[in-house]
Amino acid sequence: MTPPLRIVHERLDSTNLEVRRVWNGEPVVVVAAEQSAGMGRLGRSWVSPRGGLWMSLGWPLRQELTAYQAIPLAVGLAVAHTLETLYRLKPRIKWPNDVLLEERKVAGVLCQAELDLGALVVGVGVNANFPSASLGEALRTRPVSLLDVLGAEIDLDVLEARLTGALAGAFEAYERGAWIEELLPQIRARLAWVGEAVACVDAGGGMLAEGTMRGVDDHGALQIETESGVRTLSGGEIQRRAPAR
Ligand code: BTN
Repeated sequence: MTPPLRIVHERLDSTNLEVRRVWNGEPVVVVAAEQSAGMGRLGRSWVSPRGGLWMSLGWPLRQELTAYQAIPLAVGLAVAHTLETLYRLKPRIKWPNDVLLEERKVAGVLCQAELDLGALVVGVGVNANFPSASLGEALRTRPVSLLDVLGAEIDLDVLEARLTGALAGAFEAYERGAWIEELLPQIRARLAWVGEAVACVDAGGGMLAEGTMRGVDDHGALQIETESGVRTLSGGEIQRRAPAR
């Protein structure tokens, strides 16, 4: 495989937006040392100071969009696997693709289908060489950084190179049909909160389902056992509930 073209900037609004601007039909990786308008899932913003890894992969859509339904989970796996192999950490995947360390979010993934371009844009943000406390108190979820956990700075270039390889590898595995046999079992083995009390909410905080997290089905959709049976959800965000007393 030819490695994706790599474009590096000191500062961008968002690496996902830059992939759109430079797209020429071939795989491309855009990296920025900092972002002024980093984008998160569900229309949220993503705080992206210097010291983090802020990168996006543009990938040509080679199949129907529906065939890529579970790619966000495959991307979460690629991030988790890279952190495991490089730093001997034990990350968990919080459906659909947050990566947690010690129950706190170390990395987030934003997958955007750009149908007008025929591309998928996969943005990955890793809190790396800054203390998570420097992100401020206003954040919705409690983050963690690699610096918090490892106690030392990591080499961002190494992380970026390994992550690029892992992301391209995940796309290739997915496109050759390895989802069920190779990717899904690895995702299930790392899924956070299985068997625990959770709620799934929409972008506005509206309740979609509440009950016991059962895992993901063969398409990567979330399964929650509610009082009225198992609900299968393809969107939203899960929150852990305090166990009933
Ligand atoms: C989330 O968890 O809400 C997703 C966060 C994704 C952040 C990354 S940082 C690089 C890329 N560029 C963006 O604007 N967002 C993604």
